[in-house]
Amino acid sequence: VASVQRDLNPTPGGADQGGAATNRRILLTRLPAGRLSADVFALDAAPTPVPGPGEVLCRTLYISIDPANRAWMQGRTYRARLGTNEVMPANTLCEVVGGDLAPGTLVLAQAGWQDYAVLPVSGLDPVPEAPALRQYLGALGITGMAAYFGLHNVARVQEGDTVVISAAAGATGHLAGQLAAIHGCRVVGIAGSRAKNRWLVAELGFDGAVDYHDADWRDQVRGLCADGIDVYFDNVGGPVLEAILPLMNVHGRIACCGAIASYDTGTPDTRVAGIPGRLVNSRLRMEGFLARDFKATWASARQDIAAWLAAGEVRSVIEVVDGLDRTPEALIGLLNGDNVGKRVIRVTATRLDGSPVT
Ligand SMILES: NC(=O)c1ccc[n+]([C@@H]2O[C@H](COP(=O)([O-])OP(=O)(O)OC[C@H]3O[C@@H](n4cnc5c(N)ncnc54)[C@H](OP(=O)(O)O)[C@@H]3O)[C@@H](O)[C@H]2O)c1
Repeated sequence: VASVQRDLNPTPGGADQGGAATNRRILLTRLPAGRLSADVFALDAAPTPVPGPGEVLCRTLYISIDPANRAWMQGRTYRARLGTNEVMPANTLCEVVGGDLAPGTLVLAQAGWQDYAVLPVSGLDPVPEAPALRQYLGALGITGMAAYFGLHNVARVQEGDTVVISAAAGATGHLAGQLAAIHGCRVVGIAGSRAKNRWLVAELGFDGAVDYHDADWRDQVRGLCADGIDVYFDNVGGPVLEAILPLMNVHGRIACCGAIASYDTGTPDTRVAGIPGRLVNSRLRMEGFLARDFKATWASARQDIAAWLAAGEVRSVIEVVDGLDRTPEALIGLLNGDNVGKRVIRVTATRLDGSPVT
């Protein structure tokens, strides 16, 4: 990161107290042509913005590191093309400093890679206090919702299904596998290292797991799914999807959650030629979705997941990286598979009231 200014934490008498403070921001200065590198970002400092009517000043506690951050740089996706020399957008957990919501209120917000953002109240998702706030970006956040609704509403898993999950040791995948197991499914993961796969089987209860770097990984999946695959929870697309399609059972379901295999490039794969024939022959249903499509029922999904977490039936692993300035390297590393579970940036260690950011 081109560091313009560091060590700009808010000082007493600053925005936390309602006055002017410095806002550290990480800007996307240009769109990457190939693989993402840190030199497309720059850290700068700007005055903390002031909320107007219907707005609040949000203070970022956690930033969610999402593969989609890189996909957004490729052009128009489900959101508008990213501009340059603007704050890098991101899902965040914030607390309200001032404006039209009570100070200290916790909100899920699109505050981006910065300390402070002014946002319209209408776009915020208030959440209650919780022992581990970071779970609002994990099991109780978008990745948890993607796992839950992708399995239940899109793939419509049933007891006895054989379910294959790619990027299985990541944020969405490790939750999706455990939720499928709760439904009485046989669960096979695909992830990028032996260590990740050992963890999935030994610690998270997957029935099997395969490293897609192995030359014979397709045979390994076939061996673990002797009766074929009923549900494929696809986080990856590309060559993994190509290899799984022929193994799908008649009337199988493919929940297309993401396509990370084609995110970190200037030339994403757009081929579709072989797919329709496979869908017809095996009468497959393949459906893309966004977790936010199901926003109206997030509350009940959160209740289910919170109960499983409390009962120890689901483990939600969250990697915390401290420091706003480490956000670019955290995203680049995640695209290269160096994360296990959900990765978040903790922007500040303390809440407005002095309590720790848990
Ligand atoms: N639809 C939705 O609402 C929604 C919500 C959240 C996430 N998603 C999508 O779900 C997917 C997973 O996201 P996440 O947040 O849970 O991230 P994540 O799985 O925690 O991190 C991404 C993982 O993808 C794997 N990966 C990277 N490049 C790969 C490649 N070329 N082939 C195979 N695996 C690769 C890496 O693990 P390995 O070691 O296994 O390579 C990496 O750890 C992404 O496609 C994301 O866009 C969708």
